[in-house]
Amino acid sequence: MAETTRRIHLGLFLHGAGHHVAGWRYPGAEYGGENLPHLLRLVASAERAKFDMVFLADGLTTDADTHPSMVSRLEPLSALSAFAMSTSRIGLAATASTTYGEPFHTARVFATLDHLSQGRAAWNAVTTSYARSAANFGTAHPPHSERYAIAEEFIDVVKGLWDSWDDGAFPKDQASGVYADSSKLHVLDHKGKYFSVKGPLNSSRTPQGHPIIIQSGSSDPGQALAARTGEVVFTAQQTLESAQEFYRSLKGRLAAFGRRPESLAIMPGFLPVIGGTEQEARDKLATLDAWTDRSKAVPVLSDRLGHDISGYDLDGPLPDLPVSQQLQSRAKLLTEVARRDNLTLGQLAQLVATGRGHHVMCGAPEQIADRMEAWFRGYGADGFNVMPPYFPGGLDDFVTGVVPILQKRGLYRTDYDGPTLRDHFGFPRPPNQHRVAASRRESARA
Ligand SMILES: Cc1cc2nc3c(=O)[nH]c(=O)nc-3n(C[C@H](O)[C@H](O)[C@H](O)COP(=O)(O)O)c2cc1C
Repeated sequence: MAETTRRIHLGLFLHGAGHHVAGWRYPGAEYGGENLPHLLRLVASAERAKFDMVFLADGLTTDADTHPSMVSRLEPLSALSAFAMSTSRIGLAATASTTYGEPFHTARVFATLDHLSQGRAAWNAVTTSYARSAANFGTAHPPHSERYAIAEEFIDVVKGLWDSWDDGAFPKDQASGVYADSSKLHVLDHKGKYFSVKGPLNSSRTPQGHPIIIQSGSSDPGQALAARTGEVVFTAQQTLESAQEFYRSLKGRLAAFGRRPESLAIMPGFLPVIGGTEQEARDKLATLDAWTDRSKAVPVLSDRLGHDISGYDLDGPLPDLPVSQQLQSRAKLLTEVARRDNLTLGQLAQLVATGRGHHVMCGAPEQIADRMEAWFRGYGADGFNVMPPYFPGGLDDFVTGVVPILQKRGLYRTDYDGPTLRDHFGFPRPPNQHRVAASRRESARA
């Protein structure tokens, strides 16, 4: 991603019932996190528009008041395996938890997705913020800092397992009878604070070497993890200034790990509400907001703040709350917006119902493209996780209205450069870490 070839990256943040809490009620909307034909049509549309990837978020709990896109949904890796069969270029990013998971299993399922998709897999490694998840795993929810310590070790183990075999370790030579070459096998034998994993992984090295690793926590330990291991970073930013501050902070941490700024792509969420004119777009958002059931918005806000606010007056201000052990960066962002714009608790709940704290923009396609260009050229973003408020219309408006403008301006690809997700991002295929370490040992001996 040299400066001359720097281009906007686009991810489709695929929420089956739309991102706005009331998106599914929009006239003509199709919805359902388990509605496969609907999801496949959306992925096909994003691939025709040359999106880098489609992204499925995930959680480990639900109840009837949960956001319609999260209340029932397909398990992401299973869903992406289906998407892999009907697409050929678009990247496939799935969320999987480092707090409620096992590195061996995680390494294996993502390696499988990379094989199935011929090099298009990405893993959004999340620490699972919500404490109630613990009840489904017969365990206690670790505090914020420990969740990140676990994540650091978890990701190292997964990467070590992905390198269990060298490239070319399976000659499958009928004449000699050698199927697997034992000299190209590396047994991880990991014994750490949180995990004990012997290995090797029963998967050959995948088309991308390693599936791409996405990090989506923006707190201090979240950024530290991203700086060491992340290749793509999702974040929520309200303004260009805060996006630039985050961008500078995170990219500034890379050198300490011997990394260059372009080895990591920062993609804030972006919820475009598109109309023929700005007024038309504003009317659309007003319609969606009017359908929002406040009783459903309050738990969504409580989750983001990390505190139950159901007992507070919705016409009053946001109370002072202690630092959350759940989502630190999002709670901080929402508190700043509420104070800055003097919002009542009810207004803050509406903001969260619309875009959960991500940047919302109403406008005609040209205005949306202008805003994206300003964030991109101003180094607030390397790309965007596009969050249509409803489907399929919200995505159609974006791909037919905004994408051609970005292409005309030379800011966005008109075709894919290669078959893998690493090709889309311009990230090199990583060498096998065990082979690199062995070569170093050999040269030190020589
Ligand atoms: C675009 C985006 C997508 C996310 N997707 C998920 C997800 O699918 N599952 C999840 O548990 N957390 C998800 N998160 C939340 C983060 O993983 C993280 O828990 C949260 O941002 C709080 O981290 P922090 O305390 O480091 O700020 C997402 C965050 C962003 C910005």
